[in-house]
Amino acid sequence: MAAKEFKRPDGRKLDEMRPISAKVGVIPSADGSAMWKQGDTIAIAAVHGPKKMHPQHQQDPSTGQLRCNYNLMSFSVSDRARPGKNRRSQEIDKIIEWALEPVLLIKDFPNMVIDVTIQIIQADAGTRCAGINAAALALAHAGIPMKGMVSSVALGKLDKTLVVDLNKAEEDFEEGEGATDIPISMISDGKITHIQLDGKITPTQLKEVMKMAKKACKEIYEIQKKALKESLEVKKNG
Ligand code: CDP
Repeated sequence: MAAKEFKRPDGRKLDEMRPISAKVGVIPSADGSAMWKQGDTIAIAAVHGPKKMHPQHQQDPSTGQLRCNYNLMSFSVSDRARPGKNRRSQEIDKIIEWALEPVLLIKDFPNMVIDVTIQIIQADAGTRCAGINAAALALAHAGIPMKGMVSSVALGKLDKTLVVDLNKAEEDFEEGEGATDIPISMISDGKITHIQLDGKITPTQLKEVMKMAKKACKEIYEIQKKALKESLEVKKNG
C-alpha cells in the first residue's frame, strides 16, 4: 500500500495527534500534580517531595533520587487489569525515571527522594508517554528545579507508513509488516531522553520518525506551558 493511500482507523492525518487536554493542580494535597488526556488515554501524576528518603539505608549523601511509580488502574482497560505491580509496570517505572531525570537538578537534594506517582485511569495506548507528560508538569508544578520540560509521544510504523501517536487499534494493526511502536521523550531543546523501539525500521525511516517526534513534542510542550500558565493564573486570582 502506498504511503499516501494509507487511512488511519480514526481518520487522523499521519502527523496528527489525538486531541489533548492538560490540567495542572488536580490533587490539592500533593506538592505538585497534573492530568494529561490524549484521546482516550488519561494519566494523572502526583509529586510528593523532595523529602527525606525512606527506607533510610537508601539515602545517598551525594544526590537526591527520583522514584516513579506507574500504575494501570483495574478499570482503565476493557479486560480489567490485575491490580498491583507486575513486570510491565516495573519496567515503565524505570523508563519514566530515565526520561525525566536528565532535566532535574537532583544533586541539589542529597539524601532526599522525589516521589512521582502516576495513575493511568483510562488506557488506549501511549500511557507511558501520557504519564511522562503529566509527571513533567507535576514536577514543574511542585517547584522542583528543572533545566527544561520533557515532552513525550509514541511514534509508530503501520506496515510501511509512519504515523504519530498510536491509539490501541493502531498498536494492534496486523496487516503487512504490522505495527511498530516507538515511544520517544524529548527535552524542550530537542535532546532525546528516552526512545524505545519494538520492531524493525530502516535508518531512513528512523530519521523521519525523529523529525515527526520533534514536531509533535513541540506541540506537546506548548500545551504543557499553557497548562502551567493557567495554574499560575488560578493561584493569582484566588
Ligand atoms: O500504554 P503504552 O503504549 O505506553 O504501553 P504498552 O505496554 O505498549 O500498552 C499498550 C496498550 O495496551 C495500553 O495503553 C493499554 O491500552 C493496553 N493494555 C491492556 O489493555 N492491558 C494491559 N495489562 C496492558 C496494556
